[in-house]
Amino acid sequence: MLQQTGVGVAITGSGSAIPSVSLDNQGLTQLVETSDDWIATRTGIRQRRLAGEESLSAIATLAAQRAIAMAGIAPEDLDLIILATSTADDLFGSASSIQFQLGASRAVAFDLTAACSGFVFGLVTASQFIRTGVYQNVLLIGADILSRWVDWSDRGTCVLFGDGAGAIVMQASERDRLLGFELRSDGTQHQSLSLAYTAQPKELVPGINVQAGTYHPITMNGKEVYRFAVQKVPEVLEKAMFRASISIEQIDWLLLHQANQRILDAVAQRLKIPTEKVISNLANYGNTSAASIPLALDEAVREGKIKPGDIIASSGFGAGLTWGAAIFQWGR
Ligand code: ACO
Repeated sequence: MLQQTGVGVAITGSGSAIPSVSLDNQGLTQLVETSDDWIATRTGIRQRRLAGEESLSAIATLAAQRAIAMAGIAPEDLDLIILATSTADDLFGSASSIQFQLGASRAVAFDLTAACSGFVFGLVTASQFIRTGVYQNVLLIGADILSRWVDWSDRGTCVLFGDGAGAIVMQASERDRLLGFELRSDGTQHQSLSLAYTAQPKELVPGINVQAGTYHPITMNGKEVYRFAVQKVPEVLEKAMFRASISIEQIDWLLLHQANQRILDAVAQRLKIPTEKVISNLANYGNTSAASIPLALDEAVREGKIKPGDIIASSGFGAGLTWGAAIFQWGR
């Protein structure tokens, strides 16, 4: 039953967590023929964190606890938990395990898979539950351990990815801080970036087969994905800004999925957003997929860069292909 209608959404807490092990570009030269110079120049990445010991739900839970603490609520206050991930510990979903580890006994929890767009898709999904008055307190986590699914002999992909988790708390509020959004998918380009299941037929009884296959490591057409990102991300941001009635000049921060510094620079340049407004931490973490936006958001908030009321233009993009943008204000 609806409790309230016409409520707005506020983002009241953030948190993040990263695995303790880091591998720099020099370390990768032991695996593939590459160099620190090639990786840094082409991508901006210098090092990445790798979850050797940590599970996805462990780092996600830690990020969530930090976000909940910042928001000043208790786990029992949460109505909904959305875990945006493509690398759950369990294919049936890891959100319920996080719900248990947090002690969020009242919350319903589910996973959402949209690759590197997962956080933005989750933000918009969570907002619908709040705006309709169904839920008041929502935890959104973006977390991925892509190192599980990287082909460590493919220098075209293994240098790009890292592991991490970020989370935000979203609450019902009188003022709506989600100012505008736009989400898109294009399955025709699905093959450009995938982590696909490959079937191995297994005969159960004569004439009846099942598929006893496995998922294969990430394959990517880097050039296609690059072209897609620099074309579609500015477009989707412009659309979301239009819906929000916000001009470029009003944007305080451009917070993009941290895939490649050249993509960040190209999007900022196309939108005429000055470099000092572009949030970037990919030098330290690489592409952490669904975690990258909340991880960068949390760092910028805790460093005091992002302040209450600041307007943030964020965009996620990646496999699917999927892409989307959300314009929001930080804080209550
Ligand atoms: N080290 C050294 N050389 C390399 C490496 C490496 N790690 N990787 C590729 N090369 C070589 C190639 O073999 C090629 O050599 P050749 O000319 O002799 O054939 C040369 O470098 C150029 O390769 P390109 O693929 O043309 O390099 P490009 O400038 O396109 O950069 C990159 C590659 C960094 C992958 C770029 O295309 C990119 O960033 N694309 C977007 C990828 C992305 O963001 N993916 C994630 C999306 S989010 C998600 O949902 C997971």
